[in-house]
Amino acid sequence: MPSWQGPGGQGRVLSVKLGGSVVTDKERPFTLRLGLLGRIAAALAAVAKETGTRYVVTLGGGSFGHVAAHEAQEAGASPAEALSVVTSVMAELAQAVADVLAMHGMRPVVYPPHAFCKPLGLRPSCSWSPVSEALRLGATPLLYGDAYPCGDGWCIVSGDELAVEAACALGASHVIYVSDVDGIYGPSGELLREVKLEEVARLATVAGRERGYDVTGGLARKIRAIRENWCAGLHGVWVVNGLRPERIRSLVAGRPTVATLVLP
Ligand code: IPE
Repeated sequence: MPSWQGPGGQGRVLSVKLGGSVVTDKERPFTLRLGLLGRIAAALAAVAKETGTRYVVTLGGGSFGHVAAHEAQEAGASPAEALSVVTSVMAELAQAVADVLAMHGMRPVVYPPHAFCKPLGLRPSCSWSPVSEALRLGATPLLYGDAYPCGDGWCIVSGDELAVEAACALGASHVIYVSDVDGIYGPSGELLREVKLEEVARLATVAGRERGYDVTGGLARKIRAIRENWCAGLHGVWVVNGLRPERIRSLVAGRPTVATLVLP
């Protein structure tokens, strides 16, 4: 299979992380990108209908979770206050996205990570069996980066590690990171079609701007999260530009498109 050919196909399970920059407007606190979300949902739903591809979807925090967590930190909120605010804001975001997916014929079921995961470092350590059963019934499990109690305080589990652990636990062949960049760029600014994870760690130069608050850290953390959760059944991780939903559609349908494939 040529590397630029997408991972989708009959009966495939794909783990799709919708980054905060495509789900929300990172420059406007608590603002959804509803139009874009609708086009992404339509792309995913169309391929599900055509090929039987199934998804587990994970959301980033964007201008919901990151802003709430930052404000809680700044205000010196107690762990209980911070947990309450961040988990509420992310639950609202997830329900709004679930509504959009449902409007396009998908059957989302929201799984709040603080309620079924107990992260150990970058390993979310979730209890996946109910999620797996919902997926088997044709539902689309919907997860999101979340806050959870840790020690005497609160911590954040990122959608980055949740999407990889979900892929491994639910039998997905690939993780797809939907971001606002075309993929991963090489040292001379060229878009890489295929790259080894270790090479990405060396490059650490994803093109694009960091905007707004980010309480989970940049690319280096993302690479560690991917590496620590990779499993034998996971064939690769794609990075694709969600601002171009037609690329998502091609990718999940198994057709060639502009994207980067990261291999172990
Ligand atoms: C962060 O999740 C979740 C919270 C801040 C509560 P991510 O780390 O996956 O979010 P994005 O994709 O960077 O926005």
